[in-house]
Amino acid sequence: MKKYLITGGRGYVGSVLTRRLHRSGAAVVVVDNGLVGGPELDLPGVTYVDGDVREVGAWENAFKGVEAVVHLAAIVGDGACGVDTDTAWAVNYLGTIRVAEACRRAGVRELVFASTCSNYGVTEDTEVDVWSPMAPQSTYAETKVMSEHYLLSLPRDVLGTRLLRFATIHGLSPRMRFDLAVNVMTADAVTRGRVTVHGGTQWRPFLHVEDAAEAVRLVLGDGRRAAPSVYNVGSGEENHRLDAIGELIAGEVPGTRVEIRAEQTDPRDYRVNFDPIGRDLGFTPSLRVVDTVRDIRDAMHGGEFADYDSPRYSNYLTAVAAVHRGA
Ligand SMILES: NC(=O)c1ccc[n+]([C@@H]2O[C@H](COP(=O)([O-])OP(=O)(O)OC[C@H]3O[C@@H](n4cnc5c(N)ncnc54)[C@H](O)[C@@H]3O)[C@@H](O)[C@H]2O)c1
Repeated sequence: MKKYLITGGRGYVGSVLTRRLHRSGAAVVVVDNGLVGGPELDLPGVTYVDGDVREVGAWENAFKGVEAVVHLAAIVGDGACGVDTDTAWAVNYLGTIRVAEACRRAGVRELVFASTCSNYGVTEDTEVDVWSPMAPQSTYAETKVMSEHYLLSLPRDVLGTRLLRFATIHGLSPRMRFDLAVNVMTADAVTRGRVTVHGGTQWRPFLHVEDAAEAVRLVLGDGRRAAPSVYNVGSGEENHRLDAIGELIAGEVPGTRVEIRAEQTDPRDYRVNFDPIGRDLGFTPSLRVVDTVRDIRDAMHGGEFADYDSPRYSNYLTAVAAVHRGA
């Protein structure tokens, strides 16, 4: 039985990935410090370790017998990283170095790293691919770019690193986030009868959380460990303008008003080419933005997520609360 270690495995992506790797017959060790992570899943072969990626020494025996590490743990999002940039650098950059060093000591030969299409930042009106220059617009994206550079500088024969630049993710997860565009806009539409779009003309690629997990599973199973690889993870058809997302939601949640505000609060604007991951790994997303809109709408109509604006669903508000607590 293959055994994988997932850092940040109680998170939004990590919970879905844990479930998926378990279903594929693998054993999973989840390491998470519970900063924002959701519940521990009660699944045979899945174990949980309370650990911090900045202090790998405290839980290093968890690496024993592990085939590959999926490194998801991070302070996630522009807003959350902006609250305390020192902590963001310590967790996202130094934490990545600590995890890679521990892989080497434990003889783990493969590391999959969760990066982001946010690295592209603001682009001209063309499609970017993995060769395109990166223009990070936030501390969050800067920590990811620097982590990528570090991982790509390692000797391949010691640690094969695979970098996955995910599109903006959406969809239901055991640890829900309502600070992601599609999720929060849908919840606003259901609850308040309106969605607010700032700017609107920015392009952004989207990816369902189940498909993000499937991409990791495919990369883990492709047997090309020694090949350095950077993939954009998403689908060409799911590059959308934000005003189009507003209209799509209004079409699925009757009575929704779309408010376009002139001020653009987020400068990110990029359309991304996702062909290589489809070509090399046969990756095709199975779910689209509209599926999430319907899932969240139906869940809320069924009484779930009435408290969707609670701080626990927001990485930014969680980070603000941590600063107030002095944590
Ligand atoms: N959700 C997206 O749209 C998206 C897009 C691109 C990339 N990513 C990347 O995917 C990964 C997972 O993101 P997510 O959406 O699941 O976010 P998330 O915030 O839900 O998950 C992050 C997890 O890491 C844990 N964590 C935080 N600091 C830690 C520390 N010091 N030690 C151990 N664990 C710690 C948290 O408790 C949480 O469970 C991140 O690396 C993120 O940058 C996410």
